[in-house]
Amino acid sequence: MKILRMKEKLWHKELKKGGEKMSSPEENNKLEKSIQTDFQKAMSYGDYLQLDKILSSQQRLSGHHDEMLFIIIHQTSELWMKLIIHELTEAIQYIRQNDLEPSFKILSRVSRIQQQLIQSWSVLSTLTPSEYLEFRDKLGQSSGFQSYQNRLIEFALGNKNAHTLAVYKHQKDLYEKMVEDLNKPSIYDAAIQALVSRGIPVDDEVLHRDLDKTYEPNESVEEAWLTVYRNVDQYWDLYELAEKLVDIGNQQQLWRFNHMSTVERIIGHKQGTGGSSGVTYLKRVLDQHFFPELWSLRTKL
Ligand code: HEM
Repeated sequence: MKILRMKEKLWHKELKKGGEKMSSPEENNKLEKSIQTDFQKAMSYGDYLQLDKILSSQQRLSGHHDEMLFIIIHQTSELWMKLIIHELTEAIQYIRQNDLEPSFKILSRVSRIQQQLIQSWSVLSTLTPSEYLEFRDKLGQSSGFQSYQNRLIEFALGNKNAHTLAVYKHQKDLYEKMVEDLNKPSIYDAAIQALVSRGIPVDDEVLHRDLDKTYEPNESVEEAWLTVYRNVDQYWDLYELAEKLVDIGNQQQLWRFNHMSTVERIIGHKQGTGGSSGVTYLKRVLDQHFFPELWSLRTKL
């Protein structure tokens, strides 16, 4: 209102001065004639994005004001995770075809999405312990531990844990899809394959490892990456790939760390709704490193 009045004053002043004519606020509000306003037959913004579905999915079980933040932060995180999975799947395909260039652009995008996810913890940290307690009991046994998209990201990055699939047994289709993904090569398996196809040797046991197990560090892989880092000019693309992976692994760790410290800030050392020891469990998760040789080689360079 105040801004509108100021704009009106300015307009009258300009008129008096006979300066360049400004349009009145009322005129300014008029829509350009070409703007589409009839959506009886045409597809609108809301139709395309299915906003009716998305925006009617925030049902607060407690009716408490702050539960809205809790729901939206989880839903937006799940949307970003969906995009990460979409992008990582494509990147893995390119790397497996030995077409590294297009994967770099995709991996840079993944890294930016991760930054968004990391930033979201600062919004959640405005939720105080007492606010959370107003609706925590409404969550029952539900927990981010059951986020299948988070599991798919961890799988794609090489952290495979078949035990975590137990929570999906009641959803047959999802369970089968998770088992299928558990057995797919991770982005690190694909990167190691790319080393080999460039003539850099890696032990057979790594190339034929059980894909449903977490990747274990291996000396020949460290040696192979050392060859790349010591001959950057010759292997520039593999070097670039390695550094992109380090970025992504690092951001995943930052996301985990910020989750853990936000959780500690909100629930202290209480047990989680999913039944784990809470912060103690989340600290243990931080010990699961991604792309281990890309870190260990740095000491040896
Ligand atoms: C008040 C906010 C939150 C609290 C108190 C909280 C607490 C916890 C706790 C205690 C766990 C361990 C499992 C359990 O026993 O429940 C956990 C796991 C997890 N949470 Fe949260 N969380 C919060 C917000 C979020 C948000 C916003 C996300 C985003 C999707 C998220 C995603 C996850 C994931 C993916 C795990 C599994 C981690 C793993 O097993 O590697 N959490 N959370």
